[in-house]
Amino acid sequence: MTEVIKKVSIVGMGFVGLTTAAFFASRGVSVIGIDIDNEKIQKIRKATLPFYEENLEPLLQTILQKGLLRLTTAYEPAITKTNMSMIAVGTPSDAQGQIDLRYVVAAAHSIGQSLKRKENWHLVVIKSTVIPGTTRKVVGKIITKESGKTVGCDFGLCVNPEFLREGSALKDSMNPDRVVIGENDDKSGRMLEAFYETIYQGQTKILRYNLETAEMVKYVANSFLALKISYANEIANICEKIPGVDVCEVMKGVTTDFRINPYFFGAGVGFGGSCLPKDVSALLNFAKKHGYSASLLQGILQVNSHQPHHVVKIVKTALGGLKDKKIAILGLAFKKNTDDIREAPSIKLIKQLRDKGANKVFVTDPKAEKEAMRILHNIVNFGSVEECLNQAAACILVTDWPEYTNIPPKTFQSLMVEPRLLLDGRRCYDPSSYDGEVTYRGIGLSDASKT
Ligand code: UGA
Repeated sequence: MTEVIKKVSIVGMGFVGLTTAAFFASRGVSVIGIDIDNEKIQKIRKATLPFYEENLEPLLQTILQKGLLRLTTAYEPAITKTNMSMIAVGTPSDAQGQIDLRYVVAAAHSIGQSLKRKENWHLVVIKSTVIPGTTRKVVGKIITKESGKTVGCDFGLCVNPEFLREGSALKDSMNPDRVVIGENDDKSGRMLEAFYETIYQGQTKILRYNLETAEMVKYVANSFLALKISYANEIANICEKIPGVDVCEVMKGVTTDFRINPYFFGAGVGFGGSCLPKDVSALLNFAKKHGYSASLLQGILQVNSHQPHHVVKIVKTALGGLKDKKIAILGLAFKKNTDDIREAPSIKLIKQLRDKGANKVFVTDPKAEKEAMRILHNIVNFGSVEECLNQAAACILVTDWPEYTNIPPKTFQSLMVEPRLLLDGRRCYDPSSYDGEVTYRGIGLSDASKT
């Protein structure tokens, strides 16, 4: 009899795990979400998200009402009642920038112990981003040891990296460019492929590889996105030195070449978030551990960590010093549509400004203030857009929330004080809308280029 996966347990109710759980449930799959954090489980049971993600809360309410998503802190009953378990726990960086597998290891132990008494075949799938070799040599081995069962025979093993972006996670889940499956054995791959064929009704490309290739696909994709951004930022910084040149125009010219697409090529204050920085760093360290010095990967991080310094230098030069000058920061989240400030350029920028003498920094964000307060409460002032801009000598747009990109030039003009420096860190405003009253500066736009 051909087995079909209809019931899924997902370990880790963080951003990836919960979004995936909600999406599968919305397709009629019966899902059990597992997390060791009881407070989080209680919150989700009440249809409250532990983080901000557009459109997810209403969906959560619906699937909870329909009984399609159940939540627990207990592994064994959840594993026993389902035929596939996905591990979607975090894989942060350790102090040296290497991948920290402690949560993956803990989840593998618990799944292994829970499988001991399970009679039927069970598929274990790693969704977390893990360095090549982890699924086979760490997860597979732990489950084998703990359960006393044989991988590829009593239980299946796959890795299935996710490509969701915070802020558009549901949309990305519904319309992925591809599903990547790394399989330990043919049955495991076939079963997971069949599961996704049902979920996507055959509308999505499914790519099957061995475990290590699939693990590598995820790192190479995220590193390449980071590479594009750092390349755009490096070119932007060079463009600023050439009178009459604007990086946006240069990139338009470059991306008309069919070989170079325009996505993720936007110059700005640098990339942040919980994925791009840590994944480049993990791949770099993995290469180093294996005797290869990956200088290009190193360069991606170097350019990225330089970008906040670059921004501070522009502001300091324009204001003739930072002490006692009011500086407004628009946006704290690492990108719009999220409340996440992990590795956010805003935090690095603010710390740099403070180090260089700024003592009157005012910040605002529609969603990330609560998180940011924990780190910044004693070094900046929080306020509304008006409160931040009022009497400010400089304003830096860090996150491209529509609330900020829609601010008309006259607002900056009327609220701010000389020299009214507006530093467009996301290239969202039209430089030609600013006359001499507001000193407009854009990343990648030479001072003399403004028309
Ligand atoms: C990233 C990847 O885009 C996802 O495909 C992947 O699934 C995810 O990591 C992950 O590994 O879990 P995410 O971290 O949510 O997603 O954020 P991105 O949309 O990739 O943005 C990352 C950073 O790059 C942000 O700070 C953003 O502002 C910056 N960025 C993006 C630029 O500076 N310029 C651009 O042109 C695009």
